[in-house]
Amino acid sequence: MADPIRIAASILSADFARLGEEVRAVDAAGADWIHIDVMDGHFVPNLSIGPAVVAAIRPYTRKPFDVHLMIAPVEPFLAKFAEAGADSITVHLEAGPHVHRAVQIIQQLGKRAGVSLNPATPPDALDYLLDMVDLVLVMSVNPGFGGQPFIDSQLRKIDIIRGKLERTGRKIDLEVDGGIDPSTAPRVIAAGADVVVAGTAVFKGGPADYAKNIEALRQQGAKTIERLPN
Ligand code: DX5
Ligand code: ZN
Repeated sequence: MADPIRIAASILSADFARLGEEVRAVDAAGADWIHIDVMDGHFVPNLSIGPAVVAAIRPYTRKPFDVHLMIAPVEPFLAKFAEAGADSITVHLEAGPHVHRAVQIIQQLGKRAGVSLNPATPPDALDYLLDMVDLVLVMSVNPGFGGQPFIDSQLRKIDIIRGKLERTGRKIDLEVDGGIDPSTAPRVIAAGADVVVAGTAVFKGGPADYAKNIEALRQQGAKTIERLPN
């Protein structure tokens, strides 16, 4: 039996004026992880938040902080996000020439290390990292903004990466980020994802709807898992 799907709520779609309360609300509504999108206006064409904000919201939940760094360079900031309360730190394969070193540093800091692929990056770019990473994050939109449409070509990539992960014999999370809603979630799960990131689909309608929104993603995922071979 496959592991249950996990839902990572992306706070990029939260009300930033009430960020602590928003984190507490999605925790109570059943989110498994809190996904934190960090953007630098250089690697991606948008700015978001830094380690001070991560530290400020840390007391609002005990759920894992899944920090997605869309910044270049990454190395000067890894320790700062670890100290701020990250549980996993994900860096982009495209963000610099020393991803292997960045993964080593994250793990030396005692955190789970993830690597992310932009939509145009081929899955083989992961090959010499699979003996060490804890998480692979497939971008199903071009990173930088919430609310973009899902890019269908990434389903094939998810399927290829799932095969690679199985062959390692290691436990590596396969997370998908961008354009996830109750219609796309079953497709990425069927392709092999076991963690789905959702911003718009979780935060739409305000706090009264968060539990319903998360449950809709979970129900669709569970139906898909029932259909998969053991
Ligand atoms: C995009 C971010 C995503 C984003 C997803 O650069 O990495 O985490 O918040 O937002 P939705 O779920 O709205 O596509
Ligand atoms: Zn993200």
